[in-house]
Order: sequence, then structure tokens, then C-alpha cells
Amino acid sequence: MSSPATLPRLTGATFLIAGVPAAALAALVITGRLGALEGFLALVATFLSAAILAWLWLESLARLTQAMRRAMEGPMEGLPAPPPLLPAAADVAEEVHRITRSLAERSALVGQLRRADAAIIEALPDPLVVLGADRAPLRANRAARRLFGLSENGGAGGDLAALLRHPKLASAIDRALAEGAAQSADVVLPVPVLRDLSAQVIPLDPPLSDGGRMLVVLVDRTRERAVERMRADFVANVSHELRTPLASVMGFIETLRGPARGDTEAADRFLGIMSEQSDRMRRLIDDLLDLSRIELVEHQPPDGECDLGQLVRAELEGMSPIIAARGATVLTDLVEGCIARPADAGQVGQVLRNLLENALRYGRKEGTTRILLRPAAPGGLVGGTRLPNRPGHLLSVTDDGPGIPREHIPRLTERFYRVDKGRARHAGGTGLGLAIVKHVVNRHRGLLVIESEEGQGATFTVWLPGAQEAER
Ligand SMILES: Nc1ncnc2c1ncn2[C@@H]1O[C@H](COP(=O)(O)OP(=O)(O)O)[C@@H](O)[C@H]1O
Ligand SMILES: [Mg+2]
Repeated sequence: MSSPATLPRLTGATFLIAGVPAAALAALVITGRLGALEGFLALVATFLSAAILAWLWLESLARLTQAMRRAMEGPMEGLPAPPPLLPAAADVAEEVHRITRSLAERSALVGQLRRADAAIIEALPDPLVVLGADRAPLRANRAARRLFGLSENGGAGGDLAALLRHPKLASAIDRALAEGAAQSADVVLPVPVLRDLSAQVIPLDPPLSDGGRMLVVLVDRTRERAVERMRADFVANVSHELRTPLASVMGFIETLRGPARGDTEAADRFLGIMSEQSDRMRRLIDDLLDLSRIELVEHQPPDGECDLGQLVRAELEGMSPIIAARGATVLTDLVEGCIARPADAGQVGQVLRNLLENALRYGRKEGTTRILLRPAAPGGLVGGTRLPNRPGHLLSVTDDGPGIPREHIPRLTERFYRVDKGRARHAGGTGLGLAIVKHVVNRHRGLLVIESEEGQGATFTVWLPGAQEAER
């Protein structure tokens, strides 16, 4: 509460107002121009009206003070202060009220703008961290919290601390503070997972209201760099794979033109090798084209269907010359009516061909290959892998060859990955077969499971979505 018109103040003010008229009255009485009684009555009247005037002023000022204090504390809230008694003071109070209201409106607007800014920063897709003058993180937006596994209130930021300690980023911060200009740094964080970050350090001058002195904007380039590396590796691999047979063909052409000219026996032998090498190049190009065609449509699911039993029989017929040449036996156990859907029959055929070719190529000579087709139990287990919880079919190809050492299994579907490079190339492989299989299976939202015991053959199982249907 504002101090009211207290007695000492009231007395003081009354004497201040009544002082001069009282002195004049006293002078009139003393000089005898006014009677003692009249003088006394006039003095009382003077003091009385002075007291009323003083009270009015003091009370008005008190109420004005109270109104201003209320305005400072929090406008619009609570009861309004009682209006001052004097009209002039009431006008001032009214003006104060208006100013307060307009200030309140402005501060609400500033609050709104700040919240909008915060919401934009929070929603930005790029991770952003605000650092204080001591380089400690003050705030991190959602993307940054996700990147560093921070909790909502910024707790547990070991990775963020590691980033901020990184010598490259630390020196970018030094430069940004010294030069007052934005600096960038590329940082690789090796743990817990390898991450390739591009950081931009922007000094804030003047600092933010919460003490923010620097903005660190990050771009996660991990995927981009990995793709770059893969592309470079891929081109190098393709060139290498093509160069070897090409060099051999060119070498034989030179030999046939020079030293072996006219030697028909050598010519026959060399032409045979050249034809083999050309065939290898053709297969490589065919596989590369297949792979790129599949990758092109990988994101759009197929829309046809495929009777898997019929497909197996058709492919076996097509491959019968190769099977006969290897002296292999292929046994089938096919449940009828297994329809893969949605499926691209051409691509599923490619999968089966590649798996069968591998079984014949890497299996035992004159060995036995088994092809199994059956409906899958939704959510069941195959080789420790959980199947999707939808209806589907399992198609597996098992050989009785030497099998695949455990450590190689996870990498078999990488392009150009071979367990035994020399042997695989010699056997006519391109190293792309299982990559094609994996991409087709991915496009079908299916699964590929590879199981093998060394020395006991290998089983490649494909799960494809689809329902069991009565024979048609
Ligand atoms: N059934 C199998 N038994 C043993 N090894 C296999 C089998 N299938 C595939 N592999 C190994 O996996 C590698 C990759 O297979 P793939 O991608 O089809 O390439 P390619 O057959 O052209 O060499 C092969 O080089 C081979 O080392
Ligand atoms: Mg193959």
C-alpha cells in the first residue's frame, strides 16, 4: 500500500498552505484592523480549508502512486487502484493506465515473437547448439538433442561434450571469438558410432538475452560421405573387374597378330579363352544393368503376383543344361499354391536363378541341391531371424558344398564381395549375384536369411509376402 495522508504529513502540508494567510490575519488583528473574534474565526476557517486542501492533495498523490505501482507490478491484474480525488491527478492516473496498457501489449508481442523464434529453431532439421561465453552448451534444439542422445532438458550429453572438446571445433570457436566472424570445421566423431559432422560456428554480438554467445550449426554428413565412398569404391571395382578380362583379350589379340600368327592350333586355344573372357565381360555388364534397373525401382513396391511353385519348375527347366554340365542333382519339395503377392515374377526368377547358380557353382561337384517351398508361419523364426508378422512364403536353396565361413556371411550381399576371390572369378562369378538378390528382396519387403556350417553346405532362404491359395 502507498503511504496515506499520515498525520505529520497532513499537519506539515496544512501549515505550509495556511502559513501566509494566517500571518496576514495576525497582522490585521495586531494592527487593529480586524477584531480579535473575527480574526480567530477567520484563522480557524483558514486552517480548516488548508487541512481539507492538504488532505485532498496528499490523498490524490497517494492514490496516483498506488496506481503507478500497480502498473509497474503487473498491469491489468487485480483490482484497479481507487481513482485520485483531484481531477488533474485523475487525468495523470488515466494517462499512466494507458501507457501501462500499451507497454503490456508490446511486451506480450515481444514474448510471442520470442516464442515463435524458439519454435522455429526447435523445428529446424539441422542440429543447433547455443554456447555461453564459457563455451558450455546453454540450449540444443530437437535435432541436436536427437543427434547427441540428449534428454528433453539437455541432460547427459557425453557426445556433445566430446564434440565441443574436439580440437578442430575448439579452434573454430577460438577463431570465431577472436575475429567476430563465422567459422567452419569438419569433425569426425569415432564413437559411439562413426559420425561425420560439418560445423559452423557463428559468434553472437551482442550476446543473446540468455547469455548465448555462439551458435553452433551442425550438418550430419555421415550418410553422404558413406555414399560418396561407396560410389568411388564401386567405380574402382567395376573398372578393375572389366580391366582384367579386357587385358587378357587384348593380350591374345597381340599374340595372334605377332608370335602366334599362322599357328592354327594356338589360335583355336586362344580364341576359346578370348570367348570365355568376353563372356565374362558380358555377364558383368548384364549384372550391372540388372542391378541398376532394380535399384531404380527399389522404392516402389511391385504390383503383380507370382506362383512360386511354377516359377521354380520353369527356372529348373531353363537351367537344366547347366545342371547337367555340373553333374548335379536338384531335388525339390514344393507346396503347391504358394502365391507371392505383391511380387514381380521376373525379379523373383532372377533371385532363384542366382541362388541356384551359386549352389551349383560353389556347391560340391556332382552334389545335391535342394529347393524347398512352403508357407511361412507369421512371426516364426528362420536361422535366428524373426519373420514378419504377416502371411508369406519361404523359398530356400540348400547345397552340400564346403559352406561359407561364419565371418563372411554378413558381407556376402555387398557388391563384388567374394569369399575366395580367385576361385569365384575362375568359376565365372561376377560378385554381383547376391547384391541383386538382396535388392529384389528389399523391393518386395521380404527377407534373405543365409545359414551355413563350414563343410556342410549353405542354405539361402527368402521370405516373400503372399497368401496360400487353392490350386488354380
Ligand atoms: N552356395 C554357396 N556356397 C558357398 N559360397 C557361396 C555360395 N553362394 C555364394 N557364395 C559366396 O558368396 C560370394 C558372392 O556370391 P555372389 O554375389 O552370387 O557372387 P558370384 O557368384 O558372382 O561370385 C561368392 O563369390 C561365394 O564366395
Ligand atoms: Mg552368384
